[in-house]
Amino acid sequence: MAKITFITQDKETITAEANSGSVMELAVNHNVRGIDGDCGGVCSCATCHVHLQAEDMEKVGRPNEIEADMLELDDNVSEHSRLSCQIPISDALDGVVFKVVN
Ligand code: FES
Repeated sequence: MAKITFITQDKETITAEANSGSVMELAVNHNVRGIDGDCGGVCSCATCHVHLQAEDMEKVGRPNEIEADMLELDDNVSEHSRLSCQIPISDALDGVVFKVVN
């Protein structure tokens, strides 16, 4: 089980727990504003863009080439960007904080 925190653009903090699915699915299921998941999680819309804290990058991992290409289309891309639909939930994510980008 991983306890994951989202911080929205308007500074709302939402913490949720899960042990399966993707980070995007968890956010959508908890009505996290700014995570829409329009493409259903197939890495083609970037409406699930999040920024990680630098210290969490190793836990979560870096985007693969396809994800990185999609992120490049977003003006708010940073070295700490991920598409949350591409992050499977596991115990390793316990305590990770995701800042919602849009
Ligand atoms: S939900 Fe579309 S790219 Fe993540």
